[in-house]
Amino acid sequence: MNQARTHTPRVFSGVQPSGQLTLGNYLGAIRRFVELQDGAMETIYCVVDLHAITVWQDPAALTDATRQVTAAFLACGLDPKRSILFNQSQVPAHSELAWIFNCVVRLGWLTRMTQFKEKAGKNRENSSAGLYIYPALMAADILAYRATHVPVGEDQKQHLELARDIAAKFNNDFDAPDFFPLPEPLIGGPAPRVMSLRDGSKKMSKSDPSDLSRINLTDDADTIANKIRKARTDPEPLPETVEGLEGRPEAANLVGIYAALAGTSAEAVVAEFAGQGFGVFKPALAELAVSHLTPISAEIRRLMADPAEIDRVLGDGAERAAALAEPILAETYARVGLLRSRG
Ligand code: AMP
Ligand code: TRP
Repeated sequence: MNQARTHTPRVFSGVQPSGQLTLGNYLGAIRRFVELQDGAMETIYCVVDLHAITVWQDPAALTDATRQVTAAFLACGLDPKRSILFNQSQVPAHSELAWIFNCVVRLGWLTRMTQFKEKAGKNRENSSAGLYIYPALMAADILAYRATHVPVGEDQKQHLELARDIAAKFNNDFDAPDFFPLPEPLIGGPAPRVMSLRDGSKKMSKSDPSDLSRINLTDDADTIANKIRKARTDPEPLPETVEGLEGRPEAANLVGIYAALAGTSAEAVVAEFAGQGFGVFKPALAELAVSHLTPISAEIRRLMADPAEIDRVLGDGAERAAALAEPILAETYARVGLLRSRG
């Protein structure tokens, strides 16, 4: 691919401020954000508040959740000196480029999106138009910076493919090969898909009505231990090999979480606990989760006590982000033929 030649490698990702961050966000996304920050590419991480309002958000809760996600970013090790951290609505280029992409994307492409089908559910006619065009805004988030690499959990793969399709169609429609890079998803790592503690067929989600289904980054030690104790499992002991986890989604999920937290493989975990029941495995997992997450939740609480400092970090990040995005937006407007004559 000649993309690497023409576009500086750059990482972009986003997290919605639509509730408490979960262990799924941490293992599937934020831990990778931190690893990438320590690599060679420039890293930009965004709290995507405009995406959150595609479904109803209480205004005060939205502001609070935006600060919470930022505090979680910082508590997990993102450094505003090494990464650009900001919230989406403070950089107008996202919305401006999204409009152009709304005119590039085809209705048929949007209709195929499984996340829209899931989120709209039976109430399709009554869901917001924003929920439907959500992936065009996501493409704009990435391409406003000509970002080349996008770390996300497995659930975002289809949206990333759509972003590539939008970039390719724009480049083709406006006869500008390589104008936008085709962004690469970075999916993988130890836990690309953490499942609900109550139902091994559903992903762990901050919007699940049952709080017992997820571990929140702000849960205290007792809450974490209690949720793991109550996690759904089957009556069998742990198998000798990972193949033995097939058809046992809840057991496989807990083993996967243990492996990701311990920085080891599922194979190593089953080898260690082979033949043991959940009466042994769950307390061990609870201890591991508590030792990992309690320093993070303490740091989130400390940071949340000073909202002005969080707002300062976001404002500073937004200025740096806008400085990168504005020239790219101006070039895009010019390509499309939108006249700009204001000084
Ligand atoms: P969201 O909470 O939907 O804004 O997601 C933020 C990031 O976390 C995205 O990269 C998601 O793919 C990732 N993510 C969310 N839930 C999970 C999960 N249960 N397992 C792994 N990754 C997840
Ligand atoms: N749609 C993503 C999610 O729900 C969040 C997101 C918005 C995003 N814009 C993005 C992720 C750009 C990566 C890049 O998880």
